Amino acid sequence: MADPSHPDGDASPDTAVRLHRREAWQPWDHELERVELAFELDAECTVVTASLQLHRRSGADQAAPLVLSGRELTLLSVMLDGRELSDGQVAVGDRTLTVHGLPERFELCLRTRLEPVRNLSGRGLFVLGGTLVTQMEPEGLSRVTYFPDRPDVLARYRVTLTADAARYPVLLSNGDCTERRELPDGRHQVVWDDPFRKPSYVFGLVAGDLAAIRDTCRFPSGREVRLAVYAPVGHIRHCRFALEAVRRAMLWDEATYGLECDVNDYSLVALPGFPGAMENKGLNLYDLAGVLADTEITTDDEALTIERIIAHEYFHNWTGNRVTCRDWFQLSLKEGLTRFRDQTYIDDRLGGAYRIDTVRALLRNQFPEDDGPNRHPIRPERYADVEELYTATVYEKGAEVIRMMHTLLGPARFTAGVRDYLARHDGQAVTTDEFVDAMARAGGRDLAAFRRWYVQAGRPRVHVERQAQDGGIALTLTQTLAVAPDALPLTIPVRVSWFDRSGQALSPQLADGGDPALIEIAAAATRVVYADLPPDAVPSLFEGLSAPVGIEPHLDSDERLVLLAHATDPWARWNAAQGLMTDAIRAQAAAARDGASLSFADFPIQAFARLLDEAQEAPDSRLVLAELLRVPDEPVLSDGQPFIDVDGHHAARTALRASLGQALRPQLLRAVQDLGEPGDGELMHVGGLGRRRLAAVCLDLLAAVGDDEVARLCHERVLAAPTMTERFDALACLVDIEHPLRQSALDAFIDRWRDHPTVVAKWFTAQALARSPGAIERIMALQIHPLFDPQNMALGLALLGSFFRQNRVAFHDAQGRGYEWLADVLLMLDRLGRPGAVWLTPQISQWRRHLPERQAAMRRALERVAGTAGLSNGTRGLVMRFLDE
Ligand code: PHE
Ligand code: ZN
Repeated sequence: MADPSHPDGDASPDTAVRLHRREAWQPWDHELERVELAFELDAECTVVTASLQLHRRSGADQAAPLVLSGRELTLLSVMLDGRELSDGQVAVGDRTLTVHGLPERFELCLRTRLEPVRNLSGRGLFVLGGTLVTQMEPEGLSRVTYFPDRPDVLARYRVTLTADAARYPVLLSNGDCTERRELPDGRHQVVWDDPFRKPSYVFGLVAGDLAAIRDTCRFPSGREVRLAVYAPVGHIRHCRFALEAVRRAMLWDEATYGLECDVNDYSLVALPGFPGAMENKGLNLYDLAGVLADTEITTDDEALTIERIIAHEYFHNWTGNRVTCRDWFQLSLKEGLTRFRDQTYIDDRLGGAYRIDTVRALLRNQFPEDDGPNRHPIRPERYADVEELYTATVYEKGAEVIRMMHTLLGPARFTAGVRDYLARHDGQAVTTDEFVDAMARAGGRDLAAFRRWYVQAGRPRVHVERQAQDGGIALTLTQTLAVAPDALPLTIPVRVSWFDRSGQALSPQLADGGDPALIEIAAAATRVVYADLPPDAVPSLFEGLSAPVGIEPHLDSDERLVLLAHATDPWARWNAAQGLMTDAIRAQAAAARDGASLSFADFPIQAFARLLDEAQEAPDSRLVLAELLRVPDEPVLSDGQPFIDVDGHHAARTALRASLGQALRPQLLRAVQDLGEPGDGELMHVGGLGRRRLAAVCLDLLAAVGDDEVARLCHERVLAAPTMTERFDALACLVDIEHPLRQSALDAFIDRWRDHPTVVAKWFTAQALARSPGAIERIMALQIHPLFDPQNMALGLALLGSFFRQNRVAFHDAQGRGYEWLADVLLMLDRLGRPGAVWLTPQISQWRRHLPERQAAMRRALERVAGTAGLSNGTRGLVMRFLDE
């Protein structure tokens, strides 16, 4: 089989979902030496000639036929060593092409015809804004030609692109451009030769009328790489930041891991509606939103994401492209590791504040996934559709697992381990075991219990007990995995520091020796004794969130206030703040259920007022302080709770915001109106980022008061604030204030920015996140807005992604309209053959945690999807998993 783990037949008969299984992986029977691909490119009709040089793998069955994968292809011809094949020799199946009676070594030549304009799947070869472009990961090349489309088949590629010279002046692929000629018929032709062996999923091509900006990156060794960013001509003036971002990432990777860029030409291409961001060898592809950046049109959060994702795709050049995955079950090998690398890259730029962003992302989508029906190990065991592996668990928990190894080994040994892994497996397709083996060698330890993180699904809970003992304190840490009570214990690193009640840091030793700042939970229960601690000392555990676990509450309010004010680890302060606010919101929501009215009279507002003073005195810490003042959103409020109290939490959360907004109004206004230093408006200016993030959080508290003065302030900022960040943040606040200025601000914003697609997308996002009464009608009406185009992935992301994934209130409309709309969208994507179902469903997957009426409405929507005839195997598999649990 071309497919490493083809669907087996033992699916349960009622659902008929076919599953691919990890254990079914077998090496391919052949080896692919070289690939020649010739494209006669045209949006309406493209002809592809693929010549594959193959030989039988030593040890493979002599009689084994050659099986290639392919889907939705028009096959024009197949030739074996230059001769037509006889009828009995070749068989075309639903998604395969099989050739029998092959010699030891041979060349297969296939011609296929495609209609790129009609390909709406976002995979294979398709058209975006007139440009022809590919997306091959995970299995897109088999939508172009019959191919061994699996990541463990690596080959050298030579690619010839022929197209009309006027319509497609720019023709790009991987590697070096070795030939270029004009043809007499108005077409031109270029040849790209990639010296690096690569898997099919990182093959890429682009043909279009694009502008470019260029520069170079010079490494300390003297090596120089030519850099380019390509974009439609109207957007090229916003590409300078991206060009510099890729150079920054290259130099960081060299400085941190000693990894130099190995290609001579490294290009980024930005196209409207490209589905995500892709690490094709030397030819990274992006949506416009992944590249265009300028204070005029880009918010700080977007710039941060652009900086990080450009680095991510570049970092894949080593962790992914040079060393790749044996099969898709190993996806976290490249994605978890590369996500960890992009996170630490930004950590280095922003200091510890960025860890809070990472943890928030984990809490929002990964923790619920790990606790819910779609939980799976970071190295999954099975899938119905390969596309469903691109989950928060594989990426975010995968990165956390790498981070834990970094914590356990320390930075120096971790880096040595990564280098050893890359050197030993260069040019290979390997499994996560090889990575952990390298870590074990570098750390000088076997990591046996640690490896279970790759195998066991579900989020462990850690219970903490403290006891005064012999002038010190004993800590007992107990781990449990509720979803799998028989699970074996994992290695869990716990970073620790201690404070006295006045906030002084203490430095106790462990009675039995060992690192007092790092406890390893290695068994079901681990007990350590700290000597020399006052009995009321406050522990700060899991600093930096040193493991992706649920930490059971173990501190009282006074202890949390000590950490909020004095902890040195930003996450520890943030976690204390979130704990204080979460407890207060949950308590008020519960009281309101029993008929009491909401009151935050007992809330320690003064502790939060002091954070605003601190922000005034220490501008450098504003990025952290802003996070400390941010009132927790739903995923935090319901974290670890059996029941999601959407209405209660929302009402109590709004009331807490309003209480803070009222009580701290003068300070909040001062923070919002702080003009900052000259020049801090530049993207990635750390001081400016902190100031604006603080302003946004403060404005959000004021917006909960929502009086005329606040509405006017927001309106004025939407119209006249100096940066897009400030304009957008004000708009996002105003959409939830019931005031005539809301519509006027929305209209003014879109009038001014309608020609900037990335800003138009933001305008949809701001509205899709609205939660005030009536928001759902206004949001749903946006579907028929003339500027909305459901075919455009970037706009889909802005409206549908924001609403289904991030709007934790309006999505749960009491009439169930949010759920029905999601069902419609899932069915629409499925009809188009577009992936995305797993990505859009982090909320509805939690349906059993909601009120009975909502449960019924969500179940109806899911059942409608499951019951639709002609549904794909993948979508059915996913929806059935939600329903079956
Ligand atoms: N490999 C891409 C990344 O860098 C993700 C991706 C997968 C993009 C599939 C498009 C399609 O994470
Ligand atoms: Zn990636």
